[in-house]
Amino acid sequence: MPTDPQRPTPIPVIIDCDTGIDDALALLLAVRHPRLDLRAVTCVAGNTDVDGVVRNTLTVLEQAGAPGIPVARGAERPLIEAVRTARHVHGHDGMGDLGLPAPARTPVDTDAVSLLRREILASPRPVTLIPTAPATNIALLLRTHPEVTRNIERIVFMGGAVATGNATPVAEFNVWHDPEAAAILLTAGVPITMYGLDVFERVVVPGADVRRLRASTDPGTRLAGALLTHRGPATDEADPGGGLGDAGAVCAVIDPAGLTTHRLPVEVVLSPGPARGQTLVDRRARPGESELHGDAREQPLVDVALEVDVERYVALYLDAVEGI
Ligand code: BDR
Ligand code: CA
Repeated sequence: MPTDPQRPTPIPVIIDCDTGIDDALALLLAVRHPRLDLRAVTCVAGNTDVDGVVRNTLTVLEQAGAPGIPVARGAERPLIEAVRTARHVHGHDGMGDLGLPAPARTPVDTDAVSLLRREILASPRPVTLIPTAPATNIALLLRTHPEVTRNIERIVFMGGAVATGNATPVAEFNVWHDPEAAAILLTAGVPITMYGLDVFERVVVPGADVRRLRASTDPGTRLAGALLTHRGPATDEADPGGGLGDAGAVCAVIDPAGLTTHRLPVEVVLSPGPARGQTLVDRRARPGESELHGDAREQPLVDVALEVDVERYVALYLDAVEGI
């Protein structure tokens, strides 16, 4: 079938998430943006326990008017670490304790890794994976079914930090929660974009826009407003807006030109101690003494996001989530 240049074929995407206030914002965008074809959503323990993540994900998709997208339950703990939730950020239920209704349906009758494999290989065009959570499901997928990489276009993951961490001074939560899984993701052998804290923290929706979303008559738009309000306290107190968080990684798939990336070697620190879970990004212009003395190691090259056009991504988000 010929494609209309005004309406390019949607990009097939799968989101792997730990919904999660900002994962919910990401799902709302993916469901509503015409450039994306959200083919499946897989769930993993992170912000809350995996059953809570499944429940939250199903509820968000229903509120967004997209109840048919397959959702699968995935790993209930990281590869080696214990579960260490972020309920102090995301509320007891992982969704800001907004009192949302329980979902009407249940997840599919297969596990996340199987659903990922099936949907990736069945897609007529290579899939873009968007992990917005600890990478446990993705690592299990890559180790169980490595053949999937032949139909993966790119992995755009929220995780890591070039500069400052949040879970520790140097480690970002998703990578810190399951460092071994993140290391496996980075060596997947497909193009990878790292949407880390350096850009993640910056994309904030102004307070006036958040208030407008909250007043909407559409349940999905209203939910976006409520979720952004919950993310408000960390921003300008005079006019508390809300950060898009994980939804920024979805913006990066829709509109990569809004992001400045540099292709750089990235390595996850796996040793015990204060740096465990850090994404060590090598920004040096030339090899150092370590390499000159023969210590060079093979390291994956990753497109690391260093700058983001905040206004562009906020506008993209609001257009899609309100313009239904
Ligand atoms: C990441 O951790 C979670 O709390 C958010 O959903 C995001 O994916 C930020 O460090
Ligand atoms: Ca998340």
